[in-house]
Amino acid sequence: MSEPVFIRACRGESVAHVPVWFMRQAGRSLPEYRALRGTGSILEAIGDPVLACEITMQPVRRYGVDAAILFSDIIVPYHAIGFGVDIVPGRGPVIAQPFSSAADLERLRDLTDVDIEHVTRTIDLVVKELEATNTPLIGFAGAPFTVASYLVEGGPTREFALIKTLMHAEPLLFDLLLDRLTDITITFLRAQVAHGARVVQLFDSWAGALTRDEYRRFALPATERVLASIADLGVPTILFGVGTGELLELMSAANSSVMGIDWHVDLDEGRRRVGGRAVQGNLDPARCLGGVDLAVEGAREVMARAGSEAGHIFNLGHGVLPSTDPSTLEAVVRVVHEEGLAGVR
Ligand code: CP3
Repeated sequence: MSEPVFIRACRGESVAHVPVWFMRQAGRSLPEYRALRGTGSILEAIGDPVLACEITMQPVRRYGVDAAILFSDIIVPYHAIGFGVDIVPGRGPVIAQPFSSAADLERLRDLTDVDIEHVTRTIDLVVKELEATNTPLIGFAGAPFTVASYLVEGGPTREFALIKTLMHAEPLLFDLLLDRLTDITITFLRAQVAHGARVVQLFDSWAGALTRDEYRRFALPATERVLASIADLGVPTILFGVGTGELLELMSAANSSVMGIDWHVDLDEGRRRVGGRAVQGNLDPARCLGGVDLAVEGAREVMARAGSEAGHIFNLGHGVLPSTDPSTLEAVVRVVHEEGLAGVR
């Protein structure tokens, strides 16, 4: 079977149509998701391979997107090794005992295949379902800096006070923490690819909180090591962060195949900043809240910025907002498939 357009676009090759998928495509914007999920913790749903497979498939069926993304979360491996993480609806990951001293390093033991059996079983089921349409599955992990910010802050933050204090006051402890997270991330991603994920995305969602010097010193080395340690697998990689306009050139040094660009940076400028590699993005998620016409107009603006050169994967600039009407995203997929020109033969 021929290589899917999504994978060809990741490699900067010509495509039959511009591929599109949405970060957070599986989730609360879908009525079928809300119906299935009920009120339990999202971690319970992730722990049930049959349910997690079904949720992964929901947006693929509804939207006809060019890729599935595993229904999971960036904190899943840390939950699996018993670090004491929960996901609170409307808030995000919350840590009962945040990381604060060298003693906490012992709570970050190596990840084993058994710890993540629920995840790899889900992947086995999803890969089987996707076979008929040759749709690739995206595996993912949180980048070490973003995960560290959750583990140290104890939850979502706007100030990043604790993680930045740790970085600057105790850089060696910070390095030890990132080393542990890097090892876990590599194991987690390798397992996902071994079970059939054909692309991986590294979410460094909070890298935009850093200065260039901080990014270079405290985030880039770990991200670089993750990507170098999975390079032998030969799957395309996507590196994504929010508010990273000033960091895109530095992030390119981590050598992902594709760079995710949030909506603050025009795609033509984004492409320049990442040295011409493939880019993914970047319709403002808020542009999808005002109905079909506004979203389609926004999608056309993004495609115009993407130009006709190969190497564009259409996506939002960050995750789908929960109040998004699914019919709006259906229209966006249609217009991208019909009108996208980047690399189209
Ligand atoms: O993209 C997808 O469709 C796949 C599923 C996915 C989830 N989380 C499921 C989820 C992915 C790729 C993630 C990654 C993730 N998780 C990131 C990186 C992406 C980004 O948004 O920057 C981050 C920072 C997290 C941490 C996290 N988990 C947050 C901030 C939240 C939202 C809290 C809330 O309720 O608003 C979660 C919970 C979460 N993860 C939900 C989903 C579908 C919603 C909660 C639920 O359904 O109970």
